[in-house]
Amino acid sequence: ALAQETLKVGLILPMTGPFASTGRQIEAAAKLYMQQKGDTVAGKKIQLIVKDDTGVADVTKRLAQELIVNDKISVMAGFGLTPLALAPAPLATQAKVPQVVMAAATATITEASPFIVRTSFTLPQATVPMAEWAAQNGIKKVVTLVSDYGPGIDAEKAFTGAFAGKGGQVENLRVPLANPDFSPFLQKVTDAKPDALFVFVPSGIGAQFMKQFVERGLDKSGVKLIGPGDVTDDDILNGMGDVALGAITTQHYSAAHDSPENKAFVEAFKRANPNMRPNFMAVGGYDGMHLIYEGLKKTNGQGGQALIDAMKGMSWTSPRGPISIDPQTRDIVQNIYVRKVERVNGELYNVEFATIANVKDPVKAAK
Ligand code: DHB
Repeated sequence: ALAQETLKVGLILPMTGPFASTGRQIEAAAKLYMQQKGDTVAGKKIQLIVKDDTGVADVTKRLAQELIVNDKISVMAGFGLTPLALAPAPLATQAKVPQVVMAAATATITEASPFIVRTSFTLPQATVPMAEWAAQNGIKKVVTLVSDYGPGIDAEKAFTGAFAGKGGQVENLRVPLANPDFSPFLQKVTDAKPDALFVFVPSGIGAQFMKQFVERGLDKSGVKLIGPGDVTDDDILNGMGDVALGAITTQHYSAAHDSPENKAFVEAFKRANPNMRPNFMAVGGYDGMHLIYEGLKKTNGQGGQALIDAMKGMSWTSPRGPISIDPQTRDIVQNIYVRKVERVNGELYNVEFATIANVKDPVKAAK
């Protein structure tokens, strides 16, 4: 008999370095998915090959090249930061290998290759509802503080445009992505006395921000903390302490999301990874694996153009709620929830209290 054919999925993630929490979350979720669903799809064995790009884009690109040429992968997935998602995009196009972006969230990423599909989110998608909530809840003056690269700039522009459009006043500050020292920026916030501070930092960096926020006394200044949910990431939120209580954020996933699918997901994730709580990166990885499995079922194991076409328009119920892949843009359509940090059974959670249903990336929707 012929040996069973193997389909390889290359999972390229920052497993070490400052963004290792993103890599750990996605790897754990992808492995959980395979443990739950088995490793056979369309009669073929699925092999997950995890590679550590250390958060360096040149490394991501080299690893993608090796996985395509030497390992003959059917799909590449992961991509923990925007520069890491953009670097291999030309290879996806040339080799016709679908690239499933499970983390990176700058709006334009899906335009870098017709083989890119995304299961994370976009910053404008998560942020416009924050501007609307702020405008409707008595906030008149906001300072934005964002990491100075793709997703931060997306968040700043989306918030400023939507909030100023509702008559709000905004001042913009940008902090370097690498080794950020927030203190000079927080001094400016203290001086400006806004009603709210809007913050975007990538997943895993929120704890550093929060520590300096407290050291500068901003927790006692009456300045409300708002932003997309990256700053109150479920992986690190519980370690931040009471200073995080009351922060209002908008995002697509909370470990406290109240649905049977999410309860099962969180329970299984914690059982498999006893010291972790799944965050929005984990759900992007879990759904990315679902998209790969279901796509391969539809193509009977074929990759390339057939696989990316099979992924377009797919819809399912994720732990985050109902989601679909927009067939035109290959970007994710999903609910955005307004949440408040609260203590529930002794742990800090982003507790959802309002839902904006079926949100498309507003940047591409406007084109
Ligand atoms: C990106 C990375 C993050 O960790 C995040 O929370 C949002 C966006 C990015 O680089 O695209």
